[in-house]
Amino acid sequence: MNTTHIVTVSAYKGGVGKTTVAMELAGALGAILVDCDWDRGGASGSWGAALSDGRLLRALLRDSPPRPLRRPGRPDLVPSSAGLAEWIGDPAIVAGRLRDWAEAWGRPVVIDTHPGAVPMTDAAWAAADVVVVPVGIAWPELRALEGLLAERATAFTLILAPNRVRDRAVIRPQLKALVNMARTYGVAVAPPVGDYPWLPRRRRRSALVLTPNPGRAVAAAAADFRSLAHKVEQALAVEAPELQKQAEVLEATHG
Ligand SMILES: Nc1ncnc2c1ncn2[C@@H]1O[C@H](COP(=O)(O)OP(=O)(O)OP(=O)(O)O)[C@@H](O)[C@H]1O
Ligand SMILES: [Mg+2]
Repeated sequence: MNTTHIVTVSAYKGGVGKTTVAMELAGALGAILVDCDWDRGGASGSWGAALSDGRLLRALLRDSPPRPLRRPGRPDLVPSSAGLAEWIGDPAIVAGRLRDWAEAWGRPVVIDTHPGAVPMTDAAWAAADVVVVPVGIAWPELRALEGLLAERATAFTLILAPNRVRDRAVIRPQLKALVNMARTYGVAVAPPVGDYPWLPRRRRRSALVLTPNPGRAVAAAAADFRSLAHKVEQALAVEAPELQKQAEVLEATHG
Protein backbone atom coordinates (compact mmCIF):
# COMPACT_ATOMS: atom_id res chain seq x y z
CA MET A 1 0.00 0.00 0.00
CA ASN A 2 1.25 3.45 -0.93
CA THR A 3 2.28 4.89 2.42
CA THR A 4 0.33 8.10 2.09
CA HIS A 5 -3.06 6.74 1.06
CA ILE A 6 -6.08 8.14 2.89
CA VAL A 7 -9.13 5.98 3.56
CA THR A 8 -12.21 7.83 4.82
CA VAL A 9 -15.02 5.92 6.52
CA SER A 10 -18.32 7.74 6.11
CA ALA A 11 -22.05 7.31 5.53
CA TYR A 12 -25.15 9.48 5.40
CA LYS A 13 -26.68 7.35 8.16
CA GLY A 14 -25.68 7.22 11.83
CA GLY A 15 -24.99 4.02 13.71
CA VAL A 16 -24.08 1.89 10.67
CA GLY A 17 -20.64 0.94 11.99
CA LYS A 18 -18.37 3.76 10.79
CA THR A 19 -16.35 3.90 13.98
CA THR A 20 -16.08 0.13 14.32
CA VAL A 21 -14.96 -0.22 10.70
CA ALA A 22 -12.52 2.70 10.99
CA MET A 23 -10.81 1.19 14.08
CA GLU A 24 -10.50 -2.24 12.49
CA LEU A 25 -9.36 -0.92 9.10
CA ALA A 26 -6.71 1.26 10.74
CA GLY A 27 -5.52 -1.77 12.72
CA ALA A 28 -5.47 -4.06 9.70
CA LEU A 29 -3.75 -1.54 7.41
CA GLY A 30 -1.22 -0.35 10.02
CA ALA A 31 -2.67 3.12 9.49
CA ILE A 32 -2.95 6.16 11.73
CA LEU A 33 -6.57 6.66 12.76
CA VAL A 34 -7.66 10.30 12.67
CA ASP A 35 -10.91 10.78 14.54
CA CYS A 36 -12.87 13.62 12.96
CA ASP A 37 -16.05 12.88 14.94
CA TRP A 38 -16.22 14.96 18.11
CA ASP A 39 -19.34 13.25 19.50
CA ARG A 40 -19.06 10.95 22.49
CA GLY A 41 -19.26 7.36 21.39
CA GLY A 42 -16.79 7.89 18.55
CA ALA A 43 -13.37 6.32 17.97
CA SER A 44 -11.57 8.42 20.62
CA GLY A 45 -13.99 7.16 23.27
CA SER A 46 -13.71 3.52 22.28
CA TRP A 47 -9.92 3.88 22.12
CA GLY A 48 -9.81 5.45 25.58
CA ALA A 49 -8.72 8.98 24.63
CA ALA A 50 -10.35 12.13 26.03
CA LEU A 51 -12.15 14.59 23.77
CA SER A 52 -10.54 17.36 25.82
CA ASP A 53 -7.37 16.43 23.92
CA GLY A 54 -6.97 19.43 21.65
CA ARG A 55 -4.20 18.20 19.38
CA LEU A 56 -6.35 17.78 16.26
CA LEU A 57 -7.80 21.27 16.50
CA ARG A 58 -4.40 22.81 17.35
CA ALA A 59 -2.78 21.01 14.44
CA LEU A 60 -5.48 22.25 12.05
CA LEU A 61 -5.02 25.81 13.24
CA ARG A 62 -1.21 25.68 13.15
CA ASP A 63 -0.93 23.46 10.11
CA SER A 64 1.56 21.06 11.68
CA PRO A 65 1.07 17.28 11.82
CA PRO A 66 -0.26 16.16 15.23
CA ARG A 67 1.57 13.45 17.15
CA PRO A 68 -0.57 10.30 17.32
CA LEU A 69 -1.23 8.49 20.63
CA ARG A 70 0.13 4.94 20.84
CA ARG A 71 -1.04 1.95 22.88
CA PRO A 72 -0.48 -1.72 22.26
CA GLY A 73 -3.39 -3.50 20.58
CA ARG A 74 -4.92 -0.26 19.29
CA PRO A 75 -4.28 1.66 16.09
CA ASP A 76 -2.21 4.83 16.53
CA LEU A 77 -4.74 7.60 17.06
CA VAL A 78 -5.14 11.31 16.58
CA PRO A 79 -8.08 11.84 18.93
CA SER A 80 -10.91 14.19 18.14
CA SER A 81 -11.33 17.54 19.88
CA ALA A 82 -14.61 18.70 21.42
CA GLY A 83 -13.83 22.16 20.02
CA LEU A 84 -14.30 20.87 16.47
CA ALA A 85 -18.08 21.12 17.00
CA GLU A 86 -17.92 24.92 16.71
CA TRP A 87 -15.10 25.05 14.25
CA ILE A 88 -15.89 25.85 10.64
CA GLY A 89 -12.90 25.37 8.38
CA ASP A 90 -12.75 25.44 4.60
CA PRO A 91 -13.03 21.76 3.56
CA ALA A 92 -10.57 22.18 0.69
CA ILE A 93 -7.90 23.69 2.95
CA VAL A 94 -8.48 21.06 5.66
CA ALA A 95 -8.27 18.29 3.05
CA GLY A 96 -4.89 19.68 1.95
CA ARG A 97 -3.67 19.60 5.55
CA LEU A 98 -4.78 16.00 6.04
CA ARG A 99 -2.88 15.04 2.89
CA ASP A 100 0.21 16.94 4.10
CA TRP A 101 0.08 15.09 7.42
CA ALA A 102 -0.17 11.70 5.71
CA GLU A 103 2.90 12.68 3.69
CA ALA A 104 4.78 13.82 6.81
CA TRP A 105 3.87 10.66 8.74
CA GLY A 106 4.74 8.40 5.80
CA ARG A 107 1.89 6.14 6.90
CA PRO A 108 -1.55 5.33 5.54
CA VAL A 109 -4.36 7.19 7.26
CA VAL A 110 -7.91 6.10 8.11
CA ILE A 111 -10.40 8.84 9.00
CA ASP A 112 -13.54 8.32 11.08
CA THR A 113 -16.22 10.91 10.38
CA HIS A 114 -19.17 12.65 11.99
CA PRO A 115 -22.46 11.43 10.47
CA GLY A 116 -23.75 14.97 9.88
CA ALA A 117 -23.21 17.06 6.75
CA VAL A 118 -20.45 19.12 8.40
CA PRO A 119 -17.38 20.79 6.85
CA MET A 120 -15.00 18.38 8.61
CA THR A 121 -16.69 15.39 6.99
CA ASP A 122 -16.55 17.09 3.58
CA ALA A 123 -12.84 17.66 4.17
CA ALA A 124 -12.34 13.97 4.96
CA TRP A 125 -14.09 13.05 1.70
CA ALA A 126 -12.03 15.52 -0.30
CA ALA A 127 -8.77 14.17 1.18
CA ALA A 128 -9.63 10.50 0.54
CA ASP A 129 -8.22 8.15 -2.07
CA VAL A 130 -11.11 5.86 -1.26
CA VAL A 131 -14.25 6.26 0.86
CA VAL A 132 -15.54 3.17 2.66
CA VAL A 133 -19.30 3.34 3.29
CA PRO A 134 -20.59 0.87 5.89
CA VAL A 135 -24.15 -0.11 5.08
CA GLY A 136 -26.79 -2.10 6.93
CA ILE A 137 -28.79 -4.50 4.80
CA ALA A 138 -32.28 -3.09 5.48
CA TRP A 139 -34.59 -1.05 3.25
CA PRO A 140 -34.31 2.35 5.04
CA GLU A 141 -30.52 2.10 5.00
CA LEU A 142 -30.49 1.12 1.35
CA ARG A 143 -32.66 4.15 0.50
CA ALA A 144 -30.21 6.41 2.35
CA LEU A 145 -27.39 4.75 0.42
CA GLU A 146 -29.10 5.41 -2.91
CA GLY A 147 -29.12 9.13 -2.05
CA LEU A 148 -25.40 9.03 -1.29
CA LEU A 149 -24.59 7.17 -4.51
CA ALA A 150 -26.68 9.52 -6.65
CA GLU A 151 -24.81 12.51 -5.25
CA ARG A 152 -21.28 11.18 -4.96
CA ALA A 153 -20.58 7.98 -6.89
CA THR A 154 -19.25 9.77 -9.96
CA ALA A 155 -16.85 12.05 -8.08
CA PHE A 156 -15.37 9.61 -5.53
CA THR A 157 -13.95 6.11 -5.37
CA LEU A 158 -16.36 4.27 -3.09
CA ILE A 159 -16.41 0.85 -1.48
CA LEU A 160 -19.70 -0.28 0.01
CA ALA A 161 -19.10 -2.33 3.15
CA PRO A 162 -22.13 -4.42 4.19
CA ASN A 163 -22.02 -4.59 7.98
CA ARG A 164 -23.94 -6.59 10.61
CA VAL A 165 -25.01 -9.09 7.99
CA ARG A 166 -26.82 -12.12 9.37
CA ASP A 167 -29.06 -14.81 7.99
CA ARG A 168 -28.44 -14.20 4.32
CA ALA A 169 -31.42 -16.34 3.27
CA VAL A 170 -33.78 -13.87 4.97
CA ILE A 171 -32.22 -10.71 3.57
CA ARG A 172 -31.62 -12.02 0.04
CA PRO A 173 -33.89 -9.36 -1.60
CA GLN A 174 -32.04 -6.55 0.19
CA LEU A 175 -28.63 -7.99 -0.70
CA LYS A 176 -29.72 -8.24 -4.33
CA ALA A 177 -30.89 -4.62 -4.25
CA LEU A 178 -27.50 -3.57 -2.86
CA VAL A 179 -25.59 -5.41 -5.58
CA ASN A 180 -27.84 -3.92 -8.28
CA MET A 181 -27.36 -0.44 -6.88
CA ALA A 182 -23.60 -0.91 -6.79
CA ARG A 183 -23.67 -2.09 -10.42
CA THR A 184 -25.80 0.86 -11.54
CA TYR A 185 -23.42 3.34 -9.95
CA GLY A 186 -20.24 1.42 -10.80
CA VAL A 187 -18.97 1.07 -7.22
CA ALA A 188 -17.36 -1.88 -5.46
CA VAL A 189 -18.95 -4.01 -2.75
CA ALA A 190 -16.70 -5.50 -0.05
CA PRO A 191 -17.21 -8.96 1.45
CA PRO A 192 -19.82 -8.60 4.22
CA VAL A 193 -18.94 -8.26 7.89
CA GLY A 194 -21.14 -10.48 10.07
CA ASP A 195 -23.36 -9.44 12.94
CA TYR A 196 -21.56 -10.13 16.22
CA PRO A 197 -24.01 -9.49 19.08
CA TRP A 198 -21.19 -9.53 21.68
CA LEU A 199 -19.34 -6.69 19.95
CA PRO A 200 -21.35 -3.77 21.47
CA ARG A 201 -20.88 -5.34 24.92
CA ARG A 202 -17.14 -5.86 24.57
CA ARG A 203 -15.15 -4.05 27.26
CA ARG A 204 -11.66 -4.45 25.80
CA ARG A 205 -10.49 -1.48 23.83
CA SER A 206 -8.13 -3.30 21.49
CA ALA A 207 -8.97 -3.55 17.82
CA LEU A 208 -10.19 -7.06 17.03
CA VAL A 209 -7.58 -7.41 14.28
CA LEU A 210 -4.78 -6.50 16.73
CA THR A 211 -5.89 -8.76 19.60
CA PRO A 212 -3.13 -11.23 20.48
CA ASN A 213 -4.25 -14.87 20.88
CA PRO A 214 -7.89 -14.13 20.06
CA GLY A 215 -10.60 -16.59 21.01
CA ARG A 216 -12.72 -18.16 18.29
CA ALA A 217 -15.38 -15.42 18.27
CA VAL A 218 -12.90 -12.54 18.02
CA ALA A 219 -10.85 -14.39 15.40
CA ALA A 220 -13.94 -14.88 13.21
CA ALA A 221 -14.92 -11.21 13.41
CA ALA A 222 -11.31 -10.11 12.86
CA ALA A 223 -11.18 -12.26 9.71
CA ASP A 224 -14.20 -10.37 8.33
CA PHE A 225 -12.53 -7.02 8.93
CA ARG A 226 -9.29 -8.26 7.38
CA SER A 227 -11.20 -9.26 4.24
CA LEU A 228 -12.65 -5.76 4.10
CA ALA A 229 -9.15 -4.28 4.52
CA HIS A 230 -7.92 -6.51 1.70
CA LYS A 231 -10.66 -5.15 -0.58
CA VAL A 232 -9.56 -1.61 0.30
CA GLU A 233 -5.93 -2.46 -0.49
CA GLN A 234 -7.01 -3.90 -3.84
CA ALA A 235 -8.92 -0.73 -4.70
CA LEU A 236 -5.90 1.39 -3.83
CA ALA A 237 -3.55 -0.84 -5.81
CA VAL A 238 -5.49 -0.32 -9.04
CA GLU A 239 -3.57 2.90 -9.57
CA ALA A 240 -0.24 1.12 -9.71
CA PRO A 241 -0.79 -0.99 -12.88
CA GLU A 242 -2.32 2.04 -14.56
CA LEU A 243 0.77 4.11 -13.82
CA GLN A 244 2.87 1.20 -15.05
CA LYS A 245 0.85 1.13 -18.27
CA GLN A 246 1.26 4.88 -18.69
CA ALA A 247 5.00 4.51 -18.18
CA GLU A 248 5.14 1.75 -20.80
CA VAL A 249 3.20 3.85 -23.29
CA LEU A 250 5.55 6.79 -22.74
CA GLU A 251 8.60 4.60 -23.15
CA ALA A 252 7.27 3.10 -26.39
CA THR A 253 6.49 6.50 -27.92
CA HIS A 254 9.89 7.95 -26.99
CA GLY A 255 11.78 4.90 -28.25
N1 LIG B 1 -20.48 -6.11 12.73
C1 LIG B 1 -21.08 -5.74 13.88
N2 LIG B 1 -21.68 -6.66 14.67
C2 LIG B 1 -22.29 -6.29 15.81
N3 LIG B 1 -22.35 -5.03 16.26
C3 LIG B 1 -21.77 -4.07 15.53
C4 LIG B 1 -21.09 -4.37 14.30
N4 LIG B 1 -20.61 -3.20 13.79
C5 LIG B 1 -20.97 -2.24 14.66
N5 LIG B 1 -21.66 -2.74 15.70
C6 LIG B 1 -22.23 -2.01 16.85
O1 LIG B 1 -23.16 -1.07 16.35
C7 LIG B 1 -23.13 0.10 17.14
C8 LIG B 1 -22.84 1.29 16.23
O2 LIG B 1 -21.55 1.12 15.68
P1 LIG B 1 -20.59 2.37 15.43
O3 LIG B 1 -20.48 3.22 16.64
O4 LIG B 1 -19.34 1.82 14.86
O5 LIG B 1 -21.45 3.14 14.31
P2 LIG B 1 -21.23 4.61 13.74
O6 LIG B 1 -21.72 4.59 12.34
O7 LIG B 1 -19.85 5.05 13.98
O8 LIG B 1 -22.23 5.46 14.67
P3 LIG B 1 -22.32 7.09 14.74
O9 LIG B 1 -23.14 7.51 13.54
O10 LIG B 1 -23.04 7.32 16.04
O11 LIG B 1 -20.94 7.62 14.70
C9 LIG B 1 -22.04 -0.11 18.19
O12 LIG B 1 -22.66 -0.56 19.37
C10 LIG B 1 -21.19 -1.23 17.60
O13 LIG B 1 -20.56 -2.02 18.58
MG1 LIG C 1 -19.07 6.78 14.91
